[in-house]
This record gives sequence, C-alpha cells and structure tokens, in this order.
Amino acid sequence: MSRRYLIAGNWKMNKTAAEAAVLVKGIVDQAGSESAVDVAVCPPFTALDAASRALKGSKVALGAENMYPKASGAYTGEISADMIKEFGCEYVILGHSERREYFKESDAFINEKVKAALASGLKPILCVGETLQQREAGTTIDVVSTQTKGGLDGVSAAEVEKVVIAYEPVWAIGTGKTATPEMAQEVHAQIRAILSSIFGEDGAQKVRILYGGSMKPENADALLAEKDIDGGLIGGAALKADSFVSLVNSAVKAAAK
Ligand code: PGA
Repeated sequence: MSRRYLIAGNWKMNKTAAEAAVLVKGIVDQAGSESAVDVAVCPPFTALDAASRALKGSKVALGAENMYPKASGAYTGEISADMIKEFGCEYVILGHSERREYFKESDAFINEKVKAALASGLKPILCVGETLQQREAGTTIDVVSTQTKGGLDGVSAAEVEKVVIAYEPVWAIGTGKTATPEMAQEVHAQIRAILSSIFGEDGAQKVRILYGGSMKPENADALLAEKDIDGGLIGGAALKADSFVSLVNSAVKAAAK
C-alpha cells in the first residue's frame, strides 16, 4: 500500500493576512506544481482568504487550524466547517496539543469535531501525543491509544481513509528536541496497529500518520524514511518558505525510494 506523503504547515498564531500572502507566494513559487507528494498550509482563520488567493492555480492545499463542531448558532467567537470551506479548505487540524492544554479540549469534544469535519467533507488532521511526564512514566502508548480511539469514536472504515493522524510528542513541539526516527516509528507502528484493531488492516494501511515536533530540514530525511511515517505536521519550519519547501523536497525524495 503506497500512501502519499503529506507535508502540512501548522502556522499557529503567526502571520497576518498580508504576511500570509507573501509566505504562500514563496512556497508556491518553489513547490506550487509539486505532484509527487501532497502539500498543505494551515494559516490562522484571518489569513485563510489571503492564503487561498495566493495559492490559486497551484497544487498546494489549504487547511484551517481548528473549527467548532456545530453548523451555526450562538457560539460567540467560534468558526464552523462551512466557514472554512468557503475559502477552499481541504484539511482541518483538530485536537492539537496546544488546544488540549490551553483550551482544555477533551477527546469527546475533539471527536465531535472530527465527525463534523468528515460530515462536511473536510479531512481532519487529528493530533495525538504524550507529554514528557507521560513518556517518562511509560504511558506513551496508553495516552496515544486513548486519544486515537477517543478522537475516532463512531468514525466508519470508509470515513477513516479521509483522516490524517499527526503523532506529535508534546515534549518535541517547538523545543528543538525531536523524537529519534526509531522512537517515532515505534509509536507510529502502534498507532497503525490501533487503527487496524478498529478499522481492519486495509483501513489502517490507508491512513496517513504524520510526525510533528521540531521536524526541520536537518532531520526530515531520516524521519520520512521510516515505514509508518507518512509526512510531517510542521510548526516553526513552516513559517519560512525555504525551510518548508526543503521539507517538501525531502518528502519527494522519500517518495521516490
Ligand atoms: P514545531 O510544531 O514544528 O514547531 O515543533 C509542530 C506542531 O506543533 O504542529
């Protein structure tokens, strides 16, 4: 089973609309016609319009960083699936560890979002990952298993093909500390085994599992060479066109092997 690599930029709370247009132009100029791998940028809501215009005509896809599970209504400050789809979003990042930590998002709430995203035709990028404390306590697999199963509760085998999982060890996010390729592969393989237990081996083989956490040009080749690492969710290195494009090129190289 050959899964297409996906390199997705998670911009977090960075870039105004004007800055987003410049960054997307830089990415599109260098990687806009790349067809061997999938590429996506996920800017803040306020920059979706500018980013969407700047990537028109290119193969780079657009994603959002979050959404609310309800379709509309009295949810002050929230954004629905239809609102992000209006800008051409194909992906939406859900359950990022920063949202779990700072906004107390639970697996049940994230699950509502995953199902709402799928129902509206978006591809959820479901983030899972352990904290340093949990890793040191030896509970990494338990944590990742609970988050994966919780996030995908009620999702069908047909729908799961649209889901992307991002394994992001919390201790590696924005810290410069990366999981070694072996450490990451071990968890990715476990996630695939969990997916297989729920959706069958066929379904599990179709789901892309990205690595996230200080992925950068220096470590990307080794990470992407691992069997169950199907791309990256990139924070810091996605904020400059050169480093992001270098990661895209690493995925192109890995795909050719
Ligand atoms: P990082 O962030 O690449 O800056 O570590 C990744 C993420 O949080 O998605």
